[in-house]
Amino acid sequence: MLHGKRILLIISGGIAAYKSLDLIRRLRERGASVRCVLTDSATQFVTPLSVSALSEDKVYGDLFSLTDEAEMGHIQLSRDADLLVVAPATTNILAKMAQGIGDDLATTVLLATDKDVLVAPAMNVRMWEHPATRDNISVLKSRGILFAGPTEGNMACGEFGEGRMVEPLEIVAEIDDYFSTSAPLAGRHAVVTSGPTHEAIDPVRYIANRSSGKQGHAIAAALAGMGARTTLITGPTHEADPAGVEIVRIESARDMHDAAMGALPADIAVCAAAVADWRPAATGERKIKKRDEGTPPALDMVENPDILRSLSAAGNQRPALVVGFAAETDDVVDNAVSKRDRKGCDWIVANDVSPATGTFGGDDNTVHLVTAEGVDDWPALAKTDVAARLAERIAQHFQSLPEAAE
Ligand code: CTP
Repeated sequence: MLHGKRILLIISGGIAAYKSLDLIRRLRERGASVRCVLTDSATQFVTPLSVSALSEDKVYGDLFSLTDEAEMGHIQLSRDADLLVVAPATTNILAKMAQGIGDDLATTVLLATDKDVLVAPAMNVRMWEHPATRDNISVLKSRGILFAGPTEGNMACGEFGEGRMVEPLEIVAEIDDYFSTSAPLAGRHAVVTSGPTHEAIDPVRYIANRSSGKQGHAIAAALAGMGARTTLITGPTHEADPAGVEIVRIESARDMHDAAMGALPADIAVCAAAVADWRPAATGERKIKKRDEGTPPALDMVENPDILRSLSAAGNQRPALVVGFAAETDDVVDNAVSKRDRKGCDWIVANDVSPATGTFGGDDNTVHLVTAEGVDDWPALAKTDVAARLAERIAQHFQSLPEAAE
């Protein structure tokens, strides 16, 4: 869930600030970008240089820096983030947050933000238990501020008790949880087919097609990025496994069919695979030897199961939204409109795959989205952008459903 997320990390001045260096590393390992704001007292514990080296970004701290304000004002700093994290959050910064004080860059950003804020408190047990802190915590909780910890343990000051900052990995888990539950497709299951299928002629030969799997893999990644539990059923491709997606590798159309039906129930099915329509009727156990055949062998073909059609006709297991692709070389939209009816799916993403377009194997795609409401012509886009736009449309579709209809 953290891939591509932008975290604004505010480090305030407590001994636990050294753990924030590890937090930056852990978040970045998971694909998030981390921009940091340090309070003056934080710079007594960690240096802006270490923070900048780990975040690979400029570090902010001065509210009155003319250059910083010109490049990235304090308002923009918070607007450009998906989530604000204060770690460690000292008793002082929590008190300022509760009182609405903005006397440095960190607290001004916290006042100016329109994003959610997660705090990881870190302080001595007596400070944590002090009635003033207790009051501040309940004010902050009532305003929807999210808390990670604190936990109980030995403290740097030699005392034992509650007030220790939770470990960086626990903060990462809280952040991950935040994005999973607030994501537009959280709680949905998506099944995506991708790539070509290989249809065996004998144990060493097969029939295949030129599908790269780029589009299907990008769709699986985009749906997972929006919080859907995503099962990607893929034929042989050179594409890397998208992060956070369950991968089922298959070779033949029949295996893909069984895997797709076996992955139900699902809310969303997207059939982006270029499934072979036919397969050789008989696949011998032995390699066909050239010398055994006087003339080249004739291949008897039989039809493969149609996965898109089966998913669309899966009765009470039918996903609420079934999306197919139509790879066409002429009359792209007309063919796609009739294919939507024939296959019984809800939407068809129609693309022109005539050789001049370079769609097969290429990075770009020009598509038309065919739904019951009509046809939407999309501009030429990178396949990753087609995927993001489709995932966005899918999320909007589910958000527009009345709850009773789901
Ligand atoms: N599809 C499928 N199973 C098959 C064949 C196709 O799931 N056995 C899916 C593809 O993944 C795609 C859609 O059906 O989403 C369109 O496939 P296509 O081969 O273009 O359609 P056909 O029905 O084969 O029509 P035609 O080849 O005549 O255009």
